[in-house]
Amino acid sequence: MSKVDVLLGLQWGDEGKGKIVDVLTPNYDVIARFQGGPNAGHTLEFNGIKHVLHIIPSGIFHKEKINVIGNGVLIEPAIFNDEVEALRKKDVEPTHNLFISKKAHLILPTHRLLDAANEQAKGNAKIGSTLKGIGPAYTDKIARTGIRVGDILEFDFREKYQLLKFQHLQIAKMQNFDVDAFRIGDMTLDEYEEKWMKSLDTLRTFQLINSEYFINNCLRDGKRVLAEGAQGSMLDIDFGSYPFVTSSSTITAGVCSGLGVAPSAIGRVMGITKAYCTRVGAGPFPTELFDATGRTLCELGHEFGATTGRARRCGWIDMPALRYACMLNGVTDLIVTKPDIMDGFDEIKMCTSYVINDKDTDEIPFEFNEVEIRPNLLSFPGWKQSLSSARSYDELPVQLLQYLEAIEKRSGVRIMAVSVSPDRKDVLFR
Ligand code: GDP
Ligand code: IMO
Ligand code: MG
Repeated sequence: MSKVDVLLGLQWGDEGKGKIVDVLTPNYDVIARFQGGPNAGHTLEFNGIKHVLHIIPSGIFHKEKINVIGNGVLIEPAIFNDEVEALRKKDVEPTHNLFISKKAHLILPTHRLLDAANEQAKGNAKIGSTLKGIGPAYTDKIARTGIRVGDILEFDFREKYQLLKFQHLQIAKMQNFDVDAFRIGDMTLDEYEEKWMKSLDTLRTFQLINSEYFINNCLRDGKRVLAEGAQGSMLDIDFGSYPFVTSSSTITAGVCSGLGVAPSAIGRVMGITKAYCTRVGAGPFPTELFDATGRTLCELGHEFGATTGRARRCGWIDMPALRYACMLNGVTDLIVTKPDIMDGFDEIKMCTSYVINDKDTDEIPFEFNEVEIRPNLLSFPGWKQSLSSARSYDELPVQLLQYLEAIEKRSGVRIMAVSVSPDRKDVLFR
């Protein structure tokens, strides 16, 4: 019996999960997504190709490996169809090695309408949702009114769809949302619905399975399974900066419910953090920089959302948040990405604790969104050289090694690898 290893983000998303999953895939037989949906944007780069995945797991470019979309994931068929077509343009045929849980829930066009309506209704308190319909689709799942992938094979699918759509339109009306003016891209709701319905044909060509049996049989047969997280621990529905979070369980616990594996079947938990910190959308961000350094991180790090294109907010690494994430996830190994963005920095800072109402704390407070937080910052000298030629962990500049050591000491977790470029080849394992 083998175990499921987990790889997930420890910050507010975009830590480099897609890249690292792609790099780790050769060590596994199965790569499985367990939560989230098209709000995710996972970037892979190799052989001069750059590719962004949203719903499909990041092991897909390895043709001999099986990829699974688990029951905890949300599928938006039209976005899924676009993703499949983009892969085919790169000579990747995903029907061969991508299996989809029949229990995964569908995002309807009207879930996207409601996402927009809910954000509009929030006025100044907007979450900054990716507007892919995530919140409303998970709401229907929990309310037991959702539609699942397996339902598209049933004779009464259209009926179920129309009923749910009708309910969504009623809610939008109650919110005084202008349905006629609503657009997805440049399409009206009706136009998009047509595209969405056609996309179901693509979905039907895939192997739709009971993925909980599939994964557990793989484990029984000694196959190696890697669970790929989306978003990050600080966006978790329970432990993130609520309500400025996503609507799924982004932490290790989500692997159990999102794939149907027992807690005792969880193996290593690899957590990813950037060497600094970013956040896209609204919500607290204690180490955010509003100065030239912040802008430099954004520019050099190309910190623009892979899903929405929005500029990401940038700041120093936040150790109270990272320690919290390590605790919640049971992280056994750390992976640090993007230190190369700070190659030219004279000084690098790390938030070691928060000062709230004149008191020092290293706990994330319940009132995370309301209180004023001043980060206690520890300064480190920069390495002032390019990391592009580094070929092993031990060869990294001594200043960077000191910085990494401090991350280890304060998180209590050993670093297993450092990534120094977007490319597949530039990961230095210890
Ligand atoms: P994900 O959502 O966690 O998969 O991360 P994203 O793909 O949204 O964002 C990470 C961005 O950083 C992508 O543009 C990657 O190509 C890039 N990236 C990943 N690792 C590194 C790294 O070590 N150095 C640099 N410079 N870029 C990286
Ligand atoms: P990956 O997997 C970064 C953020 C949104 C918004 C909040 C809620 O690429 O790391 P939602 O659409 O889920 O209702 O948005 O969560 N968000 C992400 N931020 N990376 C992501 O995914 C994200 N997915 C959602 O910006 O603030
Ligand atoms: Mg991303």
